[in-house]
Amino acid sequence: MNEQTLSMRLERVAAHVPVGARLADIGSDHGYLPVALLRRGAIAAAVAGEVALTPFHAAERTVRESGQAQRITVRLANGLAAIEPGDGITAITLCGMGGETIRDILDSGKAHLSGQERLILQPNGGEQPLRQWLMDNGYRILCEEVLRENRFDYEIIVAERTGPVVYSAEELYFGPLQIQARSPAFLVKWQRMLRVKQKTLSHFGRARQAVPEDKVQEIARQARWITERLA
Ligand SMILES: C[S@@+](CC[C@H](N)C(=O)[O-])C[C@H]1O[C@@H](n2cnc3c(N)ncnc32)[C@H](O)[C@@H]1O
Repeated sequence: MNEQTLSMRLERVAAHVPVGARLADIGSDHGYLPVALLRRGAIAAAVAGEVALTPFHAAERTVRESGQAQRITVRLANGLAAIEPGDGITAITLCGMGGETIRDILDSGKAHLSGQERLILQPNGGEQPLRQWLMDNGYRILCEEVLRENRFDYEIIVAERTGPVVYSAEELYFGPLQIQARSPAFLVKWQRMLRVKQKTLSHFGRARQAVPEDKVQEIARQARWITERLA
């Protein structure tokens, strides 16, 4: 992967960035996503935010070598603090981090959100708490995808702030749109997850120390939900 050839995961993220957007790519690492989108003429400008020095320098280098430094600003900042009011950001990508981390970045950075931005989120696990945050903050999920690359299942969640929205506990767990679409990738992911849950339950059964009952019940409930959804 580089700034010209993105991974399939980042290609699918890129496909959800509106043409002409002013993008903030938070946790940009190497900066490949904003540079690829600018090279293609797909976005107008971008901010690449990084909290860690090594990836920040990597992003600076990618941007400098691409000759796009006039239109991509690389900032060393924690989460949405990379976004400044004058940036006029219209889309935010937060990719390749745990869902809880993405949620915490959104929650602690609320002051930097205008509410007009499209959020394109690619959590590595922790989708349920992330969807919970979206619902609690008036974001409707417009599009969802599951994809498999390099033996990992990835999810992409696209959301915009529309006002109050209510999702059921199962919709928060599986994804309100995915639960309807039941794509082949979705079914394969949840078949795999069911095996993981069943293995966990059998470990619990053999554990030397008693596992708290509420934990057992939670996993058992998830296994039941998955079984019902796969039927
Ligand atoms: C695994 S990389 C993903 C890079 C790229 N977004 C992708 O999907 O390929 C996660 C990056 O997020 C950065 N990161 C983690 N927490 C962050 C935060 N609070 N603010 C900005 N960047 C953060 C890390 O330093 C790391 O470079």
